[in-house]
Amino acid sequence: MVAVTQRLFFDCDTGIDDSVALIYLLARADVEIVGIASTAGNVPVDVVTANNLAWLGLCGRGDIPVHQGSPTPLVADLMTTEDTHGPLGIGYAELPAVTLAAAPGDAADAWIEASRRYEGELVGLVTGPLTSLAEAIRRDATLPTRLRRLVVMGGAFHAHGNTTPVAEWNVAVDPEAAAEVFEAFGTGVAPDPIVCPLDLTEAIALTPDHVVRLAGVAGSHPVECPDPADERGLRSVSDNDLIRDLVDALRFYFEFHADHDEGYIAHLHDPFAAMVALSPDIVATVPARIGVELTGTLTRGMTVADERGMTGPANARIAVATDVDAVFDDLLDRIGTFARTWAAR
Ligand code: BDR
Ligand code: CA
Repeated sequence: MVAVTQRLFFDCDTGIDDSVALIYLLARADVEIVGIASTAGNVPVDVVTANNLAWLGLCGRGDIPVHQGSPTPLVADLMTTEDTHGPLGIGYAELPAVTLAAAPGDAADAWIEASRRYEGELVGLVTGPLTSLAEAIRRDATLPTRLRRLVVMGGAFHAHGNTTPVAEWNVAVDPEAAAEVFEAFGTGVAPDPIVCPLDLTEAIALTPDHVVRLAGVAGSHPVECPDPADERGLRSVSDNDLIRDLVDALRFYFEFHADHDEGYIAHLHDPFAAMVALSPDIVATVPARIGVELTGTLTRGMTVADERGMTGPANARIAVATDVDAVFDDLLDRIGTFARTWAAR
């Protein structure tokens, strides 16, 4: 029996890479996921909730409460990206019908409640737009002071955006929320969030070889290697349900990246952020004050890092480097072992 050493609240817009992040977190027996916030982003918020509940149901973890957030960003109209993540946000995966129900209380209140119950202990992880967390901080401005750590996947500083030329998806969906969350830090009384931007997360590039390794660790058969020459939408026939669903989800992500001239790879932004949340020592960081452009006609949603203190004290630590091979070793080993154990249940 592995002892729980960390308690984590997961806020996501599930999403293919959010799904992999969730499975990674479930694979960590040393981590208690105290709650999940479904935030609108990659897909509408009810679809995010359905995806979270479906993965939890598949993995036999109906004990983890899923709280639904607002259907819209704070100010902007919602944009979703089914072309990136599939019509239901999980690529080609067809998860079992949802039998679980969302928990009472909305996502913002769930953030507040978790931070009060596990004051000083709670690790917060956001891999979607910051809508739910911003709303929680509006309702309770002291929330940041109760967190042990906050890790956010978002932003692009010295890299191109992936939604506009300068804006990263999670910030672009709800720039006002991102601005409010970053403004809530840098006070010296709450630990500054670790921000994992595209600059680094695009280096976490999953390849078909990694999928082969994953199947090997899981002991699943046949060992499948998605290939650019495969018929589009080819379905996995793995004898391991979890591996089959992951391969079906990831195949869509490979095709999306290939279609955008990035190669037959998949950027695992969110699983990387999950790993940083649990093991912040895997990244080197630089302190900076992050501001979010809200009014630019070309630059709305752009994240600006002031690393020289020209606009105020640092309110974040930007992750700038990691050992990518070590990241994949841990990711594939944990998820593969979880899938093998899961199949033998
Ligand atoms: C982020 O955008 C989403 O589509 C992904 O899930 C990830 O959280 C990367 O910009
Ligand atoms: Ca996401």
